[in-house]
This record gives sequence, C-alpha cells and structure tokens, in this order.
Amino acid sequence: MYTVGQEEIDALAKVIQSGALFRYGVGSECDRFEQRYAKYLGARHFALAASGSNALVAAMIGLGLGPGDEVLIPAHTYMATATSVLTVGAIPVIVDIDESLTIDPAAIEAAIRPRTKAVVPVHMWGAACNMAAIMEIAARHNLLVIEDACQGVGGGYEGRKFGTIGHAGAFSFNYFKNMTCGEGGGLATSDDAVAERARCAIDPCHFYWHGRSDSQQPFAGNGARASELEGAMLNIQLDRIDGIISAMRAEKKRVLAGTASLHNLGLRAAPMHSADHDCAAHVMFTLPSADAANRFVQIFPSVIAGKTGRHTYTEWDQVLMGAGAAHPLMNPYLMPANAECRRTYSREMCARSLDILDRTVMVAMHPQHTAADIDDTIHNIGVAARRVFAGAAPEEGALRNLKPVDAQKFDMKVDA
Ligand SMILES: Cc1ncc(COP(=O)(O)O)c(C=O)c1O
Repeated sequence: MYTVGQEEIDALAKVIQSGALFRYGVGSECDRFEQRYAKYLGARHFALAASGSNALVAAMIGLGLGPGDEVLIPAHTYMATATSVLTVGAIPVIVDIDESLTIDPAAIEAAIRPRTKAVVPVHMWGAACNMAAIMEIAARHNLLVIEDACQGVGGGYEGRKFGTIGHAGAFSFNYFKNMTCGEGGGLATSDDAVAERARCAIDPCHFYWHGRSDSQQPFAGNGARASELEGAMLNIQLDRIDGIISAMRAEKKRVLAGTASLHNLGLRAAPMHSADHDCAAHVMFTLPSADAANRFVQIFPSVIAGKTGRHTYTEWDQVLMGAGAAHPLMNPYLMPANAECRRTYSREMCARSLDILDRTVMVAMHPQHTAADIDDTIHNIGVAARRVFAGAAPEEGALRNLKPVDAQKFDMKVDA
C-alpha cells in the first residue's frame, strides 16, 4: 500500500452508509471503476474480480485455455501465475527469465512444442517484459498472450499500458500493489467475446443482471465478484496512481544517476525494457556473484530477488508435487487430455534463473520518499558498493538513516 488517506475513508463510509454494497442493481462504484480503468488502460473492457488470481483464471477461461494446452510461464513470479493455469486444467511449463527479471524471449522460443498454446509474460516487480519480442514470437507461433500485470498497475511498455498489449491482461489490487483496495483484481481485454466469457467465470450469474447475449453460452464458473467497497476505494486510488508512478519514476532516475559511477566498481544497473514507461517500483542491480549480493544487502538493507520466497518456482510446492487440484480426477497432471503435455519439474530446471535471481539486488522506491531519503539511499548504496567491491573498511564511510526492508512484502530469507 503506497498512499491511502481520508478520501478512501470517506468513499468507503459513503458506500457503507448507503447500504448498497452489492455491485449489481446499483450500477455505481464498480461499474464506474470498470469504465474509468478501461479508458485509463486503453482497453475496450475491464472486469473487476475478487483478486488477481481470479482475474488470471478468468482471463485464461475467457481465451478458451484448458486441458491439452501448455502455457509458458516464467521461473520468477508469484505462484498464482502457475496455479491459475492449473485451475483451468492446462499445464504450466516453467521457462527462464533474463537479467531484467522477466521472461526471456529466447527461452520462450526454445520451449515451444506442439501443445504450447499460450505464454504469460509477468511484469514482475513492475518492470516491463520485452513485449515487442514476445508478441512477435507469439504471432509467429500462434500463441495467446496473457499479461500478468498484477505487479504492474500504472506501468506500461513503450507508451502502451501493461495488460493491453497481449490478448488479455490481469491485475491485482491487493495490499502490496501500486493501487489497492485490500484485496481485489480484474482483467482487461479488447475482445468482446473474451470479456463476456471472463465475466461468466467471475460471476456465473452475471448475465442475470445485464442480460444474456445470444453469442455466448453460459458455463459453470466460480464466483469471484467484487463488492462496491472495492469499487469505491479503487475509484479514489485511480486518481492517485499517476502521481504514485511519477514520484517513483523520478526517484528511480535520481538513484540511477547518483549511482552510475559505481558501475566501474562492479555495481551494474540491471537491463530494463522500456525503462521510462515501467512502474519504477525498484532500482535493480545485477551483481557479479551471489556472495557479493549477500554482502551488499547485509550492509545496506535491500532485497535479493532470489530470496523472496514465494516468487520463485522452487517454492511452488503444489506445482512441484504435481498437486494440480483438490480432487484427483480434476488434477490436470493426471488428466488423459494432458498426456502429451510436459508434466514434470525439477528444482534445477531453471538454474540460469536461480543464478540471476541470487545476484540481483532490488532497492524499493516509494512515492513518499523525500529528497533527503533519496540522498541517503544514493549515499548508502555507494558505501555498500565500496565495501563489497573495493574492500573499503566500515570506518571509511558511515551509513545514513538506514530503514529496514518490508519483510512481509519481500519474505526475505538472507543467508547469515
Ligand atoms: C505476479 C503476480 N501474479 C498474480 C498475483 C495474484 O494476485 P492476488 O494476490 O490478488 O490474487 C500476484 C499477487 O501477489 C502477483 O504478484
């Protein structure tokens, strides 16, 4: 949660006082947010859901993915990217990331097999995937593209908003995201039929309220409806998002400029795609070794991407164990329709990703950081870099105003 204030409290109080918390029939906050956010994104449709996980599932159902399909996903993402593929009966195939911490287009190309139907580029930590390369590969191989923009709210790629470049895009509005209502999510698409099917996945009864189209047959979807509380809070958050993102972009620019000279020592900024358009939620550095990264974060509290627990495939227990559903007969790994899909994983399968993740240090930006905070960050990065790379002694440079990292958000497990 970056910025929440009295406006959100007032908007929530108004809905509670009205007693109209159910979205249908009142046509108010949720409808208004869906229209406004679709316009903000530049998409024809936006459908709210109860979470980003639900939004991913609805997007995949909307696009018709199911048993018999392989879906390529990156080795580094929140596990819901993988489990949502399983929820629709398809099989996630895990492929390498590159130093941008997003899916490597070359790894996508190398992983395509006859059963491969879709790819999920994840704009991880708000950084952009290489969408030009991904869309080109997808067009050549006839793949569907579902952007996981759960961590990318407010960001974009080369002037287009995340979530609108592929065939559908999913967003999360949970507590940790750029725009939040506690828990929530939704999906964007510009395809009318995909939107209609996705809305059925989010609420099997949705047509009851708006009428049923003749072109789309309803099916039994799982309920994941948003409430007016979610819509009300998001309408306020939408007014804030551009300010949040531009503050983080300005901070990122200053930190990168202020640490550029450390490149010669060995502190290299990670390569980014569309750096001027992404969310700028983090400045990332690619260090030469995991040992250097460990020493760096012990001096200047910051985050090693590979130590963020649930965000790397080695931590996705249910996927690694082949437990694709609660009931064995609904487990995609055991379905005859998936017999020709790749269904086994190992902890070593994406060793290159693990190496990159253990060498990548992330410094979190925040819209409320003051100029003095940013100066401290630049100073402290310099102190840590000089100690790690040039063997400077602690007395050669004191650290200033250190702040702890958000342990809950990053789930950090740093080697002692
Ligand atoms: C990359 C990514 N995908 C999917 C999700 C799922 O979103 P939610 O937590 O709203 O279900 C998240 C949320 O943490 C995420 O970071």
